Amino acid sequence: MRHGSNECPTHVTIVEVGPRDGLQNDSRHYSTEAKVAFIGALANAGLPVVEAASFVSPAAIPQLADSDEVMRRLSRKDGVRYVALIPNERGYERAVGAGVDSIALFASATEEFSRANLRASIDDTFARFEAVAARARADRCWIRGYVSVAFTCPYAGPTEPEHVLNVARRLFDLGCDEIALADTIGVAEPDDVIALLDVVLPAIPRERLALHFHDTNGRALVNVDAALEYGIATFDGSAGGLGGCPFAPGAPGNLATELLVEHLATRGIETGVDANAVRHAVSALRYVSTVVS
Ligand code: COA
Ligand code: ZN
Repeated sequence: MRHGSNECPTHVTIVEVGPRDGLQNDSRHYSTEAKVAFIGALANAGLPVVEAASFVSPAAIPQLADSDEVMRRLSRKDGVRYVALIPNERGYERAVGAGVDSIALFASATEEFSRANLRASIDDTFARFEAVAARARADRCWIRGYVSVAFTCPYAGPTEPEHVLNVARRLFDLGCDEIALADTIGVAEPDDVIALLDVVLPAIPRERLALHFHDTNGRALVNVDAALEYGIATFDGSAGGLGGCPFAPGAPGNLATELLVEHLATRGIETGVDANAVRHAVSALRYVSTVVS
């Protein structure tokens, strides 16, 4: 049964992932100061949630090795949630030490991607996440849970919606406030979005779901449209379309936040985000990187 039709939201929450998902895959060097300014500019552009840092192994993602310092230095704007990606308890401890109060865990829908990205089976990653989530809940942290490769895996091919549902449900049971279904390599089509939501929505309330699209073939916005029909009202964007995933060969940039904002506006859906201010944030970041490198 399709759960879509006539439920299109009038307001969408955009989760800005550029400073994390974008910069983790950018070959340019950005100073800590430039990152802090970028995050500040994005918050000032009206983005209500900014994924600002990643407390993974610095050997895995050297671009974000200064996340501790970034989180310590950023000036928090009231009403804005600053999220940090966490792979294990070690990362959680670093995050808490840097003042983080909102975290994102990331699980994979396939064993192949789990081993490539987290160097562990899905079960082993959940053993780590359970420990982190228990501490985070006790600390009253807000928790997001990603399901990576929710549509297609670069190693295993198309992902079964039931596998995505299993992982999403496990994250939900850990106490995640929001579950983000990620098209990590950007190959989903609207029919895939529909097929996945038909399986996931009966188990996870729509207001707890977010969709995270990459824009490989320019289909991210039509995929957003498909999800809007199901009443999904939270979408990830990356300023300037920065990003990809270093463990997902072929992953191009994420859906650009400014294009998402403008697309939603043409449909009469408000986001509270100033698309041109997002463009300026990206230009300023690029300018600083050309000056220092
Ligand atoms: N922060 C800092 N260092 C960490 C860390 C963390 N959260 N977790 C592990 N490390 C360090 C360990 O101290 C160890 O360092 P050493 O080699 O100097 O002794 C090294 O990383 C390996 O630790 P280990 O526990 O054996 O982890 P691993 O090699 O199995 O890697 C992960 C597992 C998850 C930590 C690592 O694969 C990772 O960070 N992946 C993130 C991938 C990612 O960010 N992908 C993009 C997001 S979608
Ligand atoms: Zn991504």
